[in-house]
Order: sequence, then C-alpha cells, then structure tokens
Amino acid sequence: MNALIPGLHPIETASRDEIEALQLSRLKWSVKHAYDNVPHYRAKLDAAGVHPDDVQELADLAKLPFTTKEDLRETYPFGMFAAPKERLRRVHASSGTTGKPTVVGYTDRDISMWADMVARSIYAAGARPGMTVHIAYGYGLFTGGLGAHYGVERLGCMAVPVSGGQTERQVQLIRDFRPEVIMVTPSYMLALADEMEAQGLSRADCSLEIGIFGAEPWTDEMRRSIEERVGLSAVDIYGLSEVIGPGVANEVREAKDGLYVWEDHFYPEIVDPETGQPVPDGEFGELVFTSLTKEALPILRYRTRDLTRLLPGTARSMRRMEKITGRTDDMLIIRGVNLFPSQIEELILKDPRLAPHYQIEVWREGAMDRIAVDVEARDPAASEDLKAEAAMDLAHHIKSYIGVSAAVRVQAVGAVERSIGKAKRVVDRRTG
Ligand code: DLL
Repeated sequence: MNALIPGLHPIETASRDEIEALQLSRLKWSVKHAYDNVPHYRAKLDAAGVHPDDVQELADLAKLPFTTKEDLRETYPFGMFAAPKERLRRVHASSGTTGKPTVVGYTDRDISMWADMVARSIYAAGARPGMTVHIAYGYGLFTGGLGAHYGVERLGCMAVPVSGGQTERQVQLIRDFRPEVIMVTPSYMLALADEMEAQGLSRADCSLEIGIFGAEPWTDEMRRSIEERVGLSAVDIYGLSEVIGPGVANEVREAKDGLYVWEDHFYPEIVDPETGQPVPDGEFGELVFTSLTKEALPILRYRTRDLTRLLPGTARSMRRMEKITGRTDDMLIIRGVNLFPSQIEELILKDPRLAPHYQIEVWREGAMDRIAVDVEARDPAASEDLKAEAAMDLAHHIKSYIGVSAAVRVQAVGAVERSIGKAKRVVDRRTG
C-alpha cells in the first residue's frame, strides 16, 4: 500500500519500513526528553539500569520500566511534566475512583498534534470538511469534549459543542441543526435514541449519518443495535488522557475491522498482564503505550489496563487493535470464572425483549461472590410475566455461555441508572 489517497496523511499509507524508521527516531527523542526533563523518569530509568542511549532499535523499548497511574498520583499534580510552566497551554484531569485525580498537560505543539489526530480519526470515520458535528462528550477536565472539538475544527467541520446532559434539548438541537455526525459515548447515545423515539424523531427524519462512539467498552452487538435504531454508521474511537485523550486509535468506516492506532505518534505494545512480558502481534494481552512526540507529558510504556490484541493493517499501514474486550480492573472473578461486562451486554442485545441499559451488582455472601444483573424491558407496557420470562432466559444464557449463576432482574423502562458520559456497568459491594 503505497499510493497517496486524497485526504490521508502520506504516513497513513507509507510502507512499514518508513513507519518504523520514523518511530525509532521519535522514540529515541521521546525517551531522552523524558529522562532529561522529568526527575521521576530519570530516577526510574537509573534504578532499572537503563539509559536513553540503550534504545537503539524499537525492541529495546522492552528494557524500559513501565509507567502506571500510580506514577502520576505520586507526582501529583505536575511532577511528570517535561515542559516549564510558561510552555503549558492546558491541563486535563481524570477523576479516578479514589484519591487524587491524574493530571495531564499539553504544550501548543501537543494540542496541535492532538487536533491532527482527532481530525485524522474522524476523517477515517467518514466525516468530511463542511459537515456539522454534534459533540456530546463532556467538556471540561475530561478530554472527550475539547479533544473532539479541536479535531472537528481542524478537519474543517462545524462543531456544535453541546457537552453531556439535557437530553431533551440535545434531541431538539439535532432536529434543528441537522448534524451529519455525532460524537458521544455509546451508552449516552442509547439515552439519546430513547429520547428521539419519545419526541417522534424517526430514523428516516434523523440527519445523523455517522456516530463516533468511544470512551467506554461497547460490543459489536451494541453497534448493530444503534445503527439499526438511529440509521447511522457507528464507528469506534479510542483514547486515554495519559496518552493524549480521544484520537489514539480509530476505526475506518469502510473496513470496520478494528481500530487503527496512529502509530506515528503513539507506539503500542501488548504485554502479558501478569508477567509484563511483551507478546507477539496477534496475541491478547494488556495494551501499553509510549508517546513518540509529546512535549508536556512524555509517557513511557504506560499500562492502560485495556485488553486487546494487535493485528496488521488492511485499510491503513498502521496496525489495528481489536475492539477492547474490557479492562483488567473491570474483570470480575466470580467463583473462579472470569467475566467482563461486555459478555453480559452481548447476551442482553440478543434478546429483543430487553433494552441494553444494564448494570451488574456484585456482593459477597459468606465466602461466596454473587452477582445480579439489572436490565430493562424494551416495551414500557411489558407485563410482569414477560419480564419474569425474559429474566429467566437471560439467567439461563449467562449460566450456559459464561458459566456463572446470576440473579437477573428485568425492570421497567427507565429503572436502570442512566449516565450522561461513561456508563457505570459494575457496582461492586464486596469489601476487602
Ligand atoms: O475516555 C478519552 C476518550 C474520550 C476516548 C472520548 C474516546 C472518546 P479517559 O477518561 O482517560 O479518556 O479514559 C480512558 O477509557 O483506558 C479505556 O478503558 C476506556 N476507553 C476509551 N475509549 C474506549 C473505546 C477517554 N473506544 C479509558 N473502547 C481507556 C473501550 C475505551 N474503552
């Protein structure tokens, strides 16, 4: 694949040799930049007995120690920054479930690179200059809203910066402004789809052609369900604050065969989550990222906790990652069986009686872990008998496909907590 395709950056169709040569020179710069400017990195590399000069080929990356969320917590708020304050233009932060948030920073050049990567992502998703993009990712410290916003403008589209919440108004704006593209979490898209139905905005009248969904795991079954209901093409966007925000990887609309990692700026590895050893492409494990060009917050071998595998590119020269199955910290181990919320989601979506609003509760009874699944009936007029039957069937499928016994409660429409951003799929009441 060497032909230039209009609209694509030449690197997107470059040879693997070209990509790897660029990665290596950028990697050397990035490791040196981190070592020279961040005492925390210098101390960690020194302790591991590695020096930036030891990075002579891409495989040498494996010599470097990992970076984790703990490193960012320990150095809160700005201790991992490699640029002086005068060169910082923005910070973002992720809330984190406990304790202090993790703070990430950007120079001018970082913000510009980020806008380029989001523009590249939404172009891959099918957005084109001149389109209108409704942005319902949260604006603020979360990277979703502003990250999307800058990329939308960079591509030459018109941004509608709605942020999350006020669902009725969102649907009104979609009706009036007629955006072709929407960027939102898949779970909030479901809430918007419900509201569209409630307001009588039919699939045929809805202007949306492309949905760019991410910030949380979602299944192919969820994709099909949203595409059918809203009449759009649903494309996956991935990213995390520590690496940049949205726009680290994205699906290509025509291929929909995984998310292309923008490898000219973010170097991916897959490691065994237990041993930390890199595994070859094609094998599943934990995704690890090293930034190649970031100035304010160079990130070396960051453990994302996201589980996937890397595959060779088809629609671009970059490698693809498969849709994220889940996070190491979302994996429930119930009486010895590993379980991801996405597995339950798949089963729920197979049953037309159920709506894909769901939450999983885990608690301990004596020494036994127990789980319950709360899910909603699709039909507001569903009878108690129908709900009981659907609950029994889902419990049966969870037992036979996943291997755990779950109490299933099929509830009335609207009974399961809605989120306006990332959905909370698991409520874990186990202590210790
Ligand atoms: O969620 C950035 C983002 C915003 C991505 C908008 C896409 C769209 P954080 O809040 O730092 O950043 O959360 C990052 O969210 O490690 C994954 O566990 C999860 N995640 C993000 N995108 C996807 C996706 C943003 N497409 C964490 N599929 C990541 C599955 C995703 N999980």
